[in-house]
Amino acid sequence: MKIFNQLLAVFFLFLALACATDKKEETANESKFNEPYRPQFHFTPATNWMNDPNGMVYYDGEYHLFYQHHPDGNVWGPMHWGHAISTDLVYWEHMPVALAPDSLGTIFSGSAVMDLENTSGLGTTEAPAMVAIYTYHDAAGAEAGRDDFQTQGIAYSTDKGRSWTKYEGNPVLKNPGIRDFRDPKVAWVETAPQQGKWIMTLAVKDKISFYSSPNLLDWTFESDFNTEWAAYGGVWECPDLFTLTTDGGEEKWVLLVSINPGGPNGGSATQYFIGDFDGSNFNVESSEIKWLDYGTDNYAGVTWSNVPESDGRRLFIGWMSNWNYANIVPTENWRSAMTLPRSLHLVKKGDGFLIASKPVEELEKIRSSSQSFSEEGFSLTEELVELELQPKEADFSLEFSNDSGEKLLVSKVGNQLSLDRSTSGETDFWDGFGTVHHAPIAANKAEKVHIFLDRSSIEVFINDGETVMTEIIFPTKPYTELKLTGFGENNSLYYLESIW
Ligand code: FRU
Repeated sequence: MKIFNQLLAVFFLFLALACATDKKEETANESKFNEPYRPQFHFTPATNWMNDPNGMVYYDGEYHLFYQHHPDGNVWGPMHWGHAISTDLVYWEHMPVALAPDSLGTIFSGSAVMDLENTSGLGTTEAPAMVAIYTYHDAAGAEAGRDDFQTQGIAYSTDKGRSWTKYEGNPVLKNPGIRDFRDPKVAWVETAPQQGKWIMTLAVKDKISFYSSPNLLDWTFESDFNTEWAAYGGVWECPDLFTLTTDGGEEKWVLLVSINPGGPNGGSATQYFIGDFDGSNFNVESSEIKWLDYGTDNYAGVTWSNVPESDGRRLFIGWMSNWNYANIVPTENWRSAMTLPRSLHLVKKGDGFLIASKPVEELEKIRSSSQSFSEEGFSLTEELVELELQPKEADFSLEFSNDSGEKLLVSKVGNQLSLDRSTSGETDFWDGFGTVHHAPIAANKAEKVHIFLDRSSIEVFINDGETVMTEIIFPTKPYTELKLTGFGENNSLYYLESIW
């Protein structure tokens, strides 16, 4: 009996220890994605540095998101491609690093396509290759003062992005002697029914160069695009070229070009051009600088390749930071998040066109509760908030605050939308961070206001995304009060669930 009791005691001791270890692991996992400032419904790398989204491609029910990643440090360093997969653009699974530096250089930004017809011969039509086209950055060459240190290379995967092989004939596009020669975005462009070619859109210092290829391996120069009146405050980076169609059925070609610095509110931002692409040349229609997002924190964004026609959306994601301060924002375990995924829409305004961005509808699945309200102020009982508001007055304001006196202000006066993060929380890590930023609102009218507030960001969409401001913030505690002026009866508040 004594022995039995002793055995029983040992058994319970083991059980207790096992449970404690489980608990410890659980807490460690939870705290990993629940640190101060860790976004709760935006993609972040599990650890360390991230910048541009890369190689976004859809295949067989999966959205792939690759990204500029420094796996060994929380500031920019030798670039790799990190990788994550989602089946719904909301919940993400972190995957192993997809591409690491090799003797040709580190792996800068680029794109990925499905080679469904096996034009490259790198896969088969039954198991088509996912092909990544990226920039090799030869840091030693750059340091040695050479001009040709950026070239384009490719890698391929025949197991749905799980493992990657670098093409042995790399680089596939050599550098003609231009220091900034990078960020290839490749797409199959139909030039006639049943006829087409791969087009590479490349950022080359202060212009865009187009190259074409029948097979992703051999590239021929087609043309350059730049205009006198575009924004040239900094180097052109991360372009994208695609078509969009208005609700009325008019199709246009769109060219996105990120620029750093020189954004409308300082530092990094993305301008776009609307026009026509004939398979060789891009011609722009109007001479007006247009910005995809007026906030300070949506950069290097591009769109997903191979989204099925049955879906039909042009899906976009951007890097939610700014080169002005990305390396010194007050986070440790990881640095930077992506914006919410958005669909892009071509909207006709008078004789011209603009691009509107809308958060994808899939995000509705993280709404945990909803309430309508008409009050001009109330307490927020949870931290993660989505608001859909209808202004009653021409001007409006919203003030989020916490009991440490930190305040974030969104307001519209006349034709100007403003986002004031000067007292929003921690701002002193960079001199110009705590400032007020502005965006114009077409026709002075804001009929709909859609806001997403995460633990360290705010995204404001006016009139179904015709004007957008995306900004990061660092409140030391969640905002618990919301005061509003200028809104009517029809407002909705949703609390959101964490995706982690
Ligand atoms: C844009 C960018 C790209 C480059 C990458 C390097 O943010 O400068 O032009 O490929 O970042 O990480």
